[in-house]
Amino acid sequence: MDDMNLQEFEARIARGEKIEPGDWMPDAYRKQLIRMISQHAHSEIIGMLPEGVWLGRAPTLRRKMVLLSKVQDEGGHGQYLYHAAETLGATREEMTDALLAGRAKYSSVFNYPTLTWADIGMIGWLVDGAAIQNQTMLAHCSYGPYSRAMVRICTEETFHKKQGMEQIIRYARGTPRQKQMAQDALNRWWWPALMMFGPHDTASPNSAQLIRWGVKTKTNDELRQDFINKMVPDFHAIGLTIPDPALRYDAASGDWLGGEINWDEFWRVVNGDGPCNAERLQIRRTAHTEGAWVREALNAYAARAEA
Ligand code: 3HC
Repeated sequence: MDDMNLQEFEARIARGEKIEPGDWMPDAYRKQLIRMISQHAHSEIIGMLPEGVWLGRAPTLRRKMVLLSKVQDEGGHGQYLYHAAETLGATREEMTDALLAGRAKYSSVFNYPTLTWADIGMIGWLVDGAAIQNQTMLAHCSYGPYSRAMVRICTEETFHKKQGMEQIIRYARGTPRQKQMAQDALNRWWWPALMMFGPHDTASPNSAQLIRWGVKTKTNDELRQDFINKMVPDFHAIGLTIPDPALRYDAASGDWLGGEINWDEFWRVVNGDGPCNAERLQIRRTAHTEGAWVREALNAYAARAEA
């Protein structure tokens, strides 16, 4: 029976149909999606923290309002994605416990410190830009609830990217000190942003299955290369230097080819030993503890409403 179901499932994927929560799906498909979507949700929530620390130090009220709006958006993205994972049978409690216990992954890029206000602009342009590159692809994902969440999230991410672009372009065209701040931010965020696309395809244990079942429609390296090709001309246009001495333009392929990512750093940070891993998880654990009364009140209210 499962062989027949699998054949029909894969035929549906080949026809470009969306798989919905009540449809038959291989256990491995369900497991992959819970893994990927819950980690994506964790990334959105933890991703609020590097920018959140600058909310009280924004240079103008306008910048403060824009950043407040962005950080709130990220929290909302996390909720959409946790809910998408719940449609597969995962519970909010299980996912949260995995994160708080350090068992769940989230994007390593959020384990780096935000040292100046220019980092806020660079995160918006570079990090959210990388997220858009990936999430635009995921909007075509074979699992219905995930692909629909991506459509909504990408719309908001576009605003995140544009506000970052505006800031970095202003600083690059501003005083020498402002331009240096923008260059310093690019120097520190370029490589962690490239790591957002994951290990090389040859070192990606999940990609083959995700591609086969239409969750990913491009590989990690394809997405990364598309992103580099987009970002290099943009930064060159405003006089910033990409912190990769090996970077060169290959006219035959039209690609900007760079040096190798420091995969030792990648896996060290993924596995919990990055500059801010402990701090990020501690803040998230404290928020969970201090927010227990809200969850208890909501549960009590829901129980009484059902009684
Ligand atoms: N940080 C942390 N872990 C990473 C990682 C990264 N940058 N890249 C890969 N990994 C992990 C994977 O989770 C996997 O571990 P696991 O099997 O224990 O889960 C392992 O490294 C091997 O990587 P694979 O390539 O085999 O894993 P995937 O096929 O899942 O590809 C991915 C990794 C590209 C991150 C993919 O999971 C994905 O596209 N996820 C959805 C998008 C997402 O999570 N984006 C994170 C950023 S969200 C964001 O930027 C918010 C924005 O508002 C700023």
